[in-house]
Amino acid sequence: MSTHIGAKPGEIAERVLMPGDPLRAKWIAETFLEGATCYSTVRNMFGFTGTYQGVRVSVQGSGMGMPSASIYTHELINEYGVNTLIRVGSCGAITEDIGLRDVIAAIGASTDSNMNRFRFDGLVDYAPVADFALLRSAVDAAEARGIPMRVGPVFAADAFYIEKEGFYDRLADYGVLAVEMETAALYTIAARYRARALTILTVSDQLRTLQHASADERQQTFSQMVEVALDAVIS
Ligand code: ADE
Repeated sequence: MSTHIGAKPGEIAERVLMPGDPLRAKWIAETFLEGATCYSTVRNMFGFTGTYQGVRVSVQGSGMGMPSASIYTHELINEYGVNTLIRVGSCGAITEDIGLRDVIAAIGASTDSNMNRFRFDGLVDYAPVADFALLRSAVDAAEARGIPMRVGPVFAADAFYIEKEGFYDRLADYGVLAVEMETAALYTIAARYRARALTILTVSDQLRTLQHASADERQQTFSQMVEVALDAVIS
């Protein structure tokens, strides 16, 4: 096992879906995978491996925020040989033309995290971006399933609760579609260790109109997003 994942060598597939919520990982495994078995319960951050359309796929909870997501991303790639990771999560939309339950694929992620400043000694503003082939596969899968999916940049925030007047407006001025909390770290670590990564999100909060999706609504769009992610991860 690695420091934070209790799997034996070979128990994790090369292709992984990564929801923040470990109970979502369980739900995805039970709903979409065949023959899924749990390989890790360390810290209740569950991980499962099964098959999707005959291809081995794992689902691993990442926790919330970049410190937690970094740990799982790093160990999946470096300790278990994972080469393809798709985060499936939720986000808050910051532009008016994006509604609750919309699906967004993150082409890149700005961030207020200090991780990459530390990584590059404050000399470079590294631009974390999605793997293009994976993104293209997700776009194709969404089109084939008739699921509208926006592609654009997101903001990976360190804090969920911020009190900074006009901050989201300023991000939106620069084309940022939504706020979440993991993608900058996922894309950076995947790039560093030559793995492919993508984030797909459903909008759970509209931060301009202050609308919030109900649990039922979130579940339904979450299913569509997971189907797109599974199609892409086995492509
Ligand atoms: N995920 C869902 N809603 C969010 C928000 N408002 N901020 C950051 N991450 C989110």
